[in-house]
Amino acid sequence: MKISFIDLAAQQKNIRDKIDAGIKKVLDHGNYIMGPEVAEAERRLAEFAGVKHCLTCSSGTDALLMALMAYDVEPGDAIFTTTFTFMATAEVVSLLGATPVLVDIDPDTFNINPDLLPVAIAKAKRDGYTPRGIIPVDIFGLPADFNRILAVAKEHGLFVIDDACQGFGGLYHGKKIGSIGEVAVTSFFPAKPLGVYGDGGAIFTDSDELAAAMRSVRIHGMGPDKYDNVRIGINGRFDTIQAAILLPKLEIFPGELKLRQEVANAYAQGLKDSVKLQKIPEGLESAWAQYSVVSPKKDKIVAALGAAGIPTAVYYPIPLHLQQAYKYLGYSKGDFPVSEEVAKGIFSLPMHPYLPLAQVEEITGIIRAVAQA
Ligand SMILES: Cc1ncc(COP(=O)(O)O)c(C=O)c1O
Repeated sequence: MKISFIDLAAQQKNIRDKIDAGIKKVLDHGNYIMGPEVAEAERRLAEFAGVKHCLTCSSGTDALLMALMAYDVEPGDAIFTTTFTFMATAEVVSLLGATPVLVDIDPDTFNINPDLLPVAIAKAKRDGYTPRGIIPVDIFGLPADFNRILAVAKEHGLFVIDDACQGFGGLYHGKKIGSIGEVAVTSFFPAKPLGVYGDGGAIFTDSDELAAAMRSVRIHGMGPDKYDNVRIGINGRFDTIQAAILLPKLEIFPGELKLRQEVANAYAQGLKDSVKLQKIPEGLESAWAQYSVVSPKKDKIVAALGAAGIPTAVYYPIPLHLQQAYKYLGYSKGDFPVSEEVAKGIFSLPMHPYLPLAQVEEITGIIRAVAQA
């Protein structure tokens, strides 16, 4: 039996007729740019997240960029984020000429460690930067430690943009991810828990002012009229065809999140004594974008799984502070020991809502055999 890392075909089989009908409708009406499906997707996504405004856009990366542009982030500003994330989280800060200030993670949740923020903020100030905001990441789908992050942000007058590109669908003490911080963003990259068939993303906020600024940024800084440009913007629109694909996917998303949780429970049950699991704190629910574990025997486990035809992936082998692209920030090996240690031993297992529990058993059996040998 073939085991997929992510099985988009299994999902498509369930909703193929609705996707076909949605695409046909777009081909019939021909409003390819900002068509009615875009407005409907935004309405439904805002309702799902429990926020006033949702703006769809061209990708999770552009969602982050547009949010930072709405805050007028500029050279000299410092934006604090985790070093253990995907490049896009910090890249957008650099694109605006501002400085990403990286912070180490909690060894158990793999999310940014809020205890380290005050020191990073003080150092950035000493170095002459203006602290402006924090971008926590919900790594692998697990909500960040928002209560503590928001407290630090309030004390220092910083904005919080939740990079929920992996976390959308998660729950933080009863609040939906998307509704925490002034702004939250997500990605509809095909492999994400809620993905489309191309690039896409969305921004969530309760702020009328920020929503208006981001709407303007999304279409070249437009003012009251498209050709009356009031600020520098980008082309950040979501395609109508992708919105038509998102709508039926959003309908089945709550059920899929439950299925992901069942897969995660089965993994935890089978692996709890063999490898280090990502800790899910009380009151939090992960969207399970990835099921990632840490083991000093990673290479052997990955090889044994590979030999059995079971795919794995490594997110992320190199923390941002050790990336060549960020050499100019001046970090060194050893600066963020927790991230470096986690990066050495981490790997991700097949995770999708349609993964049969018998396959999870097969995977955990192989891992147990290697880990306990
Ligand atoms: C944490 C994180 N931030 C940002 C992004 C960027 O999203 P996109 O690929 O849609 O630009 C991703 C996804 O790839 C991500 O996982």
